Amino acid sequence: MSPLRTLALGALLLPLAAHANDPYSYAQPDEVRVTHLDLQLKLDFPHRQLDGQATLTLDWKDPKAGTLVLDTRDLTIASVASVDAGGTASPLPYTLAPRDKQLGSKLTIQAPQRPHEVRIVYTTSPAASGLQWLPPAQTAGKRQPFMFSQSESIHARSWVPLQDSPAIRFTYDAHVSAPRDARVVMSAPNDPRHPLDGEFSFAQTHPIPSYLLAIAAGDLAVRETGPRSAVYAEPSVVGKAAHEFEDTEKMIRTAEQLYGPYRWGRYDILVLPPSFPYGGMENPNMTFATPTVLVGDKSLISLVAHELAHSWSGNLVTAASWRDIWLNEGVTTYVQGRITEALYGKRQADEEALLDIHTLQRELPSLPLNAQRLAPKPGHVDADDSLSDVAYNKGSWFLRTLEQRFGRATFDDYLKSYFNHFAFQSITTEQMLDFLKPNLIDKYPGKMSWNEVQEWVYGTGVPKDAPVPDSPQFDAIDKERTAFLAGTLPAGKLDAKGWNTQEWMYFLDGLPDAPPLARMQQLDGAWHLTGTPNAEIGMRWYVHAIAAGDKAAWPAAAEHMTRIGRLYLTMPIYAALSKTPDGLAFARQVYAKAKNGYHPLTQQAVEALLAKAAKK
Ligand code: BES
Ligand code: ZN
Repeated sequence: MSPLRTLALGALLLPLAAHANDPYSYAQPDEVRVTHLDLQLKLDFPHRQLDGQATLTLDWKDPKAGTLVLDTRDLTIASVASVDAGGTASPLPYTLAPRDKQLGSKLTIQAPQRPHEVRIVYTTSPAASGLQWLPPAQTAGKRQPFMFSQSESIHARSWVPLQDSPAIRFTYDAHVSAPRDARVVMSAPNDPRHPLDGEFSFAQTHPIPSYLLAIAAGDLAVRETGPRSAVYAEPSVVGKAAHEFEDTEKMIRTAEQLYGPYRWGRYDILVLPPSFPYGGMENPNMTFATPTVLVGDKSLISLVAHELAHSWSGNLVTAASWRDIWLNEGVTTYVQGRITEALYGKRQADEEALLDIHTLQRELPSLPLNAQRLAPKPGHVDADDSLSDVAYNKGSWFLRTLEQRFGRATFDDYLKSYFNHFAFQSITTEQMLDFLKPNLIDKYPGKMSWNEVQEWVYGTGVPKDAPVPDSPQFDAIDKERTAFLAGTLPAGKLDAKGWNTQEWMYFLDGLPDAPPLARMQQLDGAWHLTGTPNAEIGMRWYVHAIAAGDKAAWPAAAEHMTRIGRLYLTMPIYAALSKTPDGLAFARQVYAKAKNGYHPLTQQAVEALLAKAAKK
């Protein structure tokens, strides 16, 4: 994972004003809970907006309650009404609070009769933080516009007024009207043969948290990859995607053998334009994925293993708050490794685990102590703190440690029982621990003490005896890198012909922060890293070439940064450029050209980085 995951994911800050249970939401789930959402949407591409009507089914918990508080961000509210059993709407008074920078605008609806349904008619803003609208010129086909959502962490509120907290689960129905030639998909079962008639209906019958609400629309072709899986992508991309993801059904079966049935029906993958700000997003029934993993050799396929794994860890058993996010990302990264090992072998899985371990070890010393805990202490929950490599890499390391101590068979049974026990629930770290103690730790005494568990979950750093996989390949690369840097092994003599993607990543990750320029030039001369089609290798190469002062790499770096909006692959290059005045000036130029093609989250992240660099 990126040393800059914090940068990439850290859009959440300052949980001050909101409700105690979830500092990132204004919702008051002890008073009333949304149990179902009925969504009517019209896609308005010319105005880059959704015209929406959201009807919320409510379960009033407190007989004395009389207000419904919802999360919104940059929504224009046209009306709010209660809806009676006969479908008659009666207006309700409401207030929309001024916009909080992090949380958006609290929508307070007066509903003293505690209605069963409340309906909000609204439109979204063209700058909605959870949506990107692409004009035809920014698509591969250049003929039709494209749009997609990214709701995690707290962006669902920018396109639907709701209780935007992972502790609250609801089912949904949706009806979407779109231009006639567009295909619309959502985080619900999708019909690969749906006609292009401008009218799409969806039903998500499993209760999901709001961050899993998702929609996308554009010129999407479909290619089936198995009996219950397909890839969706623009027509010029779909063939490559179908080839890269041809093992999808095998992956589903592998996960099912380990952890029980895949409970969602279909599992499809949508390949987005390169501006998609993340690698992947586990939207139920329809993983959203970056095209940067389509490298032709399946070497970045673990991304699919990861998003598929979330069908158990995350979508089935969900972290109840952003502070508990390691329950989603750490457990998923562990399961991802198991799927990768089963399908692509132990060497591949161990290399990926080692890359994560090294990234974590590089990052840990610079993290505040509370950010080093899997479950940060309540009271100081900066989500900036909870969304780092710690959740992913320390979390998965903890699970690999449990596996090693208790044995694979025992741990597999345990994890399966955990998923079954908490299926379709949102849980805290403490609930997870209350299940772990009797069902694993105390059941098999002498394998791991409760103190050790506490150290993993609440301690800083990583326990000293944490197991590290062996990798003869990585050991050999360490030796070669050392000899290369010492000048005893010329770049052309590196044994890199057979290096896979992960081995190149490992080689480059281990270079010094500012390597000698002559060495970098030699390396590029021998291996042609500038302009590489593999963006994982490219990102690492450009960061080191720039740090070495190799201006010859700048134009290709700029091309990479302009084309790719994925935070993790682009932000580190902005950061590397920003370290010198010349570089910063160049970064500004690149951004000026790239900005219009970037997702709102990427725009926000680059602007924050450039502003911070200017102050230094
Ligand atoms: N759920 C995450 C993406 C996410 C996390 C978005 C937090 C917003 C806030 C997704 O499953 C993920 O982890 N994606 C990774 C890829 C993966 C292979 C580690 C990514 O996007 O880099
Ligand atoms: Zn994930």
